[in-house]
Amino acid sequence: MEQSRVGVVGTGYVGLATGACLAYVGHEVTCLDNDHERVVDLSEGKVPFYEPGLEELVARSAGRLRFAGSETLDEVVRGTDVLFMAVGTPQGGDGSADLTNVADVARAIGRALAGSTPREHPLVVVNKSTVPVGSAYYVSTLVGDGIEEAGGEGAEFRVASNPEFLREGSAVHDSLFPDRVVVGTDSREALDTLRTLYAPIVEQSFPTEWDPRPKVTVPFVTTDLASAEMIKYAANAFLATKISFINEVANLCELVGADVSEVAYGVGLDDRIGSRFLSAGLGWGGSCFPKDVAALRATAREYEHETPLLDAATAVNERQRRKVIHKLQRDLHSLKGKRVALLGLSFKPNTDDLRGAPSLTIADALHSLGARVVGYDPVASKAAAQLAPELQTVFDPYEALRGTHAAVVVTEWEEVRGLDPKRAASLMRDPKLIVDGRNALDASACREAGLLYRGFGRGHDSV
Ligand code: UDX
Repeated sequence: MEQSRVGVVGTGYVGLATGACLAYVGHEVTCLDNDHERVVDLSEGKVPFYEPGLEELVARSAGRLRFAGSETLDEVVRGTDVLFMAVGTPQGGDGSADLTNVADVARAIGRALAGSTPREHPLVVVNKSTVPVGSAYYVSTLVGDGIEEAGGEGAEFRVASNPEFLREGSAVHDSLFPDRVVVGTDSREALDTLRTLYAPIVEQSFPTEWDPRPKVTVPFVTTDLASAEMIKYAANAFLATKISFINEVANLCELVGADVSEVAYGVGLDDRIGSRFLSAGLGWGGSCFPKDVAALRATAREYEHETPLLDAATAVNERQRRKVIHKLQRDLHSLKGKRVALLGLSFKPNTDDLRGAPSLTIADALHSLGARVVGYDPVASKAAAQLAPELQTVFDPYEALRGTHAAVVVTEWEEVRGLDPKRAASLMRDPKLIVDGRNALDASACREAGLLYRGFGRGHDSV
């Protein structure tokens, strides 16, 4: 394979997974971050957040992967063919994406380019951060501003959009075995450079025992900048809407006595629909779906365009968290003084990420109603205790259950799915209520053990 020299600015789960993956498949990669402590950890092979397999991928790529502070950006710009921007684009107050980090990095790249010697090939600046549709032109302008600020003449660069489709908890798998690689650019040189860069991924020609499935080539989708950015938003907004759809159906199931798990199975067998992302319950959280759906709605508002479908998907999702409180009140009545356990705190299993996690909004609501809340999570308990100091957190699910009137399954960790209902019942106090926010438990086993089971859309088991 033809080795590329790659720079990545930002070592969050997207930047680090991207950098480590490209190094693993054979490229020379330098990852930069302005968090000095994080750079030191990473240089020692320590990944400062929970992401299964990422630490191993970094270790296996050690020969071609290095970490440095953002102060070395000038050197990196001079010595690389491709420079990824993978910095956070958090949700602003009005729902739009906050591009401050992207703007700072783009300008800094411009300043570094201005000071560099003439290049054989233009530097390809690749936006990996999720940015509002049409932002790549904004990035190009900012890089140009940086060049101008530094008084440099036409330093050669091109811009491309290369959206990420990584799921937290599966970032390594999704990097090495993506469903597709999407590149948006109007530059032939940028396209050729990125086609060379992604060749090992597209051809699946790298050595790995990670995935025993037969190697299939990965579609390399090339399009314009705006379409590439829209692919990212549309994909996330669709997945979020699909989840809100099954939650709408779950709520109807509770009215008619149907079981949404059975309904989702029957519906999902239609290969135009598919069975994934049809699990009803507390709905979507995380750092992407809420932010991306809000950003798409905010973009539409800029054009005074309405988005009734996305508005409704958001409203349904917000209502699901409130339904937990209603289900608790239905069986416990006043929550004042009642002890409630939250089983699982992270926004989904196999991550320690609490961004957009239903657990925090549910804990807040319970505290405001006078309940006493204890939270359990296999990896996120410590982070949750820092974020919500009034939340008592424990590291054992049965300790969380001890003496509680009710428990809520918030995150379907294996450790939660595998709870022994009889042992749970022996620890809890009447009415031994289990509100299964992820329909993750065996309803009949829970009821046989003496638990009062309430699911989401599980027919008569819910109401
Ligand atoms: C998502 C997209 O899947 C990924 O492609 C994109 O790059 C980033 O955003 P992520 O946010 O890590 O990834 O998690 P994901 O596994 O998609 O789940 C998102 C949320 O939906 C979680 O809160 C999860 O609990 C919820 N969910 C998922 C459901 O409620 N029901 C489902 O059936 C699936």
